[in-house]
Amino acid sequence: MQQSSKILWNTEASPNYYKIAFPYPENYPAIGSGQFFMVRVAEGSDPLLRRALAVYRVGGVDVFPELKGPGLSAVEFLYRAVGRGTGFLAKKREGDSLDWVGPLGNSYTLPKEGAHHYLVAGGTGLSSLYVLAKELIKIFPVSSVHLMVGGRSQKDILCLPDFEPLGIQISVTTEDGTKGARGRVTDVLESALRTVPSDSAHVYTAGPIPMMAKVASISKERKIACQVSLEGPMGCGFGICLGCSVEIFEKGERKYRLLCKHGPIFNSEEVYWGEA
Ligand SMILES: Cc1cc2nc3c(=O)[nH]c(=O)nc-3n(C[C@H](O)[C@H](O)[C@H](O)COP(=O)(O)OP(=O)(O)OC[C@H]3O[C@@H](n4cnc5c(N)ncnc54)[C@H](O)[C@@H]3O)c2cc1C
Ligand code: FES
Repeated sequence: MQQSSKILWNTEASPNYYKIAFPYPENYPAIGSGQFFMVRVAEGSDPLLRRALAVYRVGGVDVFPELKGPGLSAVEFLYRAVGRGTGFLAKKREGDSLDWVGPLGNSYTLPKEGAHHYLVAGGTGLSSLYVLAKELIKIFPVSSVHLMVGGRSQKDILCLPDFEPLGIQISVTTEDGTKGARGRVTDVLESALRTVPSDSAHVYTAGPIPMMAKVASISKERKIACQVSLEGPMGCGFGICLGCSVEIFEKGERKYRLLCKHGPIFNSEEVYWGEA
């Protein structure tokens, strides 16, 4: 679906990180965990291409108390201003128009059983895990869902107050020790996975490629199912421009697949990690 909507808010969540939201009525297409939208960051044709953003939160006043009135609902994105496009986006204000296409891509596959669910996030990768956490706690005991968040320092640890009311376990690590335990999030995952039977655990990860590659390798070693949310350059976001090929293993052979259409969620064992 393509629309232009008035921005509800575009606020700084941490230095250089922003949350942007627009109305998303309940009769619009349902959004699955891990899906993304393509948003136009400026009026006119410069820059021409929309930018991809994973859906962070979606819902009504239960999720967003700031929505003024019953029956209203919104979709929210969490992004980092890294370049020209996201820099333009960061300058948008409440009431400005935002042109978008979505929801796009596939979703995380929810397992039928599992006593331990580890959600491993780095930076804005966190954005693709909130809807997943909510979907998991609808099916499994809340105590079985564990969010592990890592970053270089305190300013990269985003939005924990949004997750705390869910009641899930949360572990935080920073490389410089300014928030949570000092170290890497992958060390926390590795220790946790040592204590549980392989067939009872599931791992879901989103964040920088080297982090996800390490999460994939730890999971593989323990024979634990792992789903990853890949990112990469995108043109259209829905399978037309062929600009988002990624290498995927299918039946032992390396094949090109479209990140926007066949992904962004893949089983970690399908992904060709290259030199990561
Ligand atoms: C499916 C999908 C979901 C995504 N979800 C999110 C999200 O929820 N939040 C979010 O912040 N971003 C997300 N991204 C990444 C986002 O689309 C890019 O950050 C954005 O397109 C960059 O555009 P730009 O014009 O600002 O930067 P560009 O001018 O294109 O790039 C500027 C510089 O930033 C670097 N860069 C580009 N992307 C990233 C990145 N992700 N991290 C670090 N450096 C980068 C480039 O290599 C370049 O050096 C997602 C990407 C995909 C494919
Ligand atoms: S972004 Fe155009 S085909 Fe995937």
